Amino acid sequence: MAQPLPVHDQTSDFAAAVRAGLAQPQKIIPARFFYDRAGSELFEAITELPEYYPTRTEIGILSANAADIAAAVGPGRAVIEFGSGSSAKTPLLLRAIAPAAYVPVDISAEFLQHSASALAADFPGLPVLPVAADFTAPFRPPGGIFGMPRLGFFPGSTIGNFAPPAAIDLLRSFASVLGAGSWLVIGIDLAPGPGKTREALEAAYDDAQGVTAAFNLNLLHRINRELGGTVRVQDFTHRAVWNAGLGRIEMHLVAVRDTEFTAAGQSFRLVAGEHIHTENSYKWTLAETQLLARACGWNPYTAWADTNGCFSLQLWQRALGIQEP
Ligand code: TRP
Repeated sequence: MAQPLPVHDQTSDFAAAVRAGLAQPQKIIPARFFYDRAGSELFEAITELPEYYPTRTEIGILSANAADIAAAVGPGRAVIEFGSGSSAKTPLLLRAIAPAAYVPVDISAEFLQHSASALAADFPGLPVLPVAADFTAPFRPPGGIFGMPRLGFFPGSTIGNFAPPAAIDLLRSFASVLGAGSWLVIGIDLAPGPGKTREALEAAYDDAQGVTAAFNLNLLHRINRELGGTVRVQDFTHRAVWNAGLGRIEMHLVAVRDTEFTAAGQSFRLVAGEHIHTENSYKWTLAETQLLARACGWNPYTAWADTNGCFSLQLWQRALGIQEP
């Protein structure tokens, strides 16, 4: 009989993270806990909001430049997507470049199964080799792509959700996983500038319909649902603010009045105005992104942006002379 698969216990993980995060002077809940089923659905809705420019801007840049990407990287590559999307972006890239295989890497095996089979149905004849792994830790590419030249795909400005030192570690590990002769297509959201106001940036994380607020507040509902919590969710409000000094949008859950609750076997209290920090989204200038690439073993080859300079999609080539692992 087959061995039962070891299940990573996300509940106790969540409990431990909530106990530790809410015991700190600046309370935090790590952003990875956003994505339960409700959270994932709310996130999909965020990407379709009028205020949330990154998704449609990136799709526009990708469709306008996919042929240039194909010309640079050539056919026959294994495309490794870090954090496999259910989005329209992957087919746009795959259709343009004549790949030899597609390897979506995602921490959620269930999500991966679903999106990988949908994609495989659209690309008959393309080997689709999903890997359930945390792409922030080293993982072994599937044997089926052994010897194939590789193209990494990291859209959605997910890199922005890493603080600069962690972003550097991640991009270096991509260089090592992808190997000599590889390329990387990466989406990076840009800092405010002449065509991008701070207000527009903040609105992307605090929309008029309140979808992003619901996404953030879902963390508190999750505490109530999964950790026996007694959080009065109406005592909290969503706040998104541009921190110019650190170059990032921050999301917080702010207590609008003094409030107390128990969760995961502990009691917590917040005074009015106290907040729980839940997410960062770093924004880079184009010049910084070029430095970032070079610092991590990549040569920036092309950086495309929309005319307002809101978002950039970049093609990087792995630098020569990097030690193979
Ligand atoms: N990486 C994207 C961004 O920072 C998507 C994202 C991650 C996001 N966490 C989020 C969007 C929280 C809105 C709220 O924009």
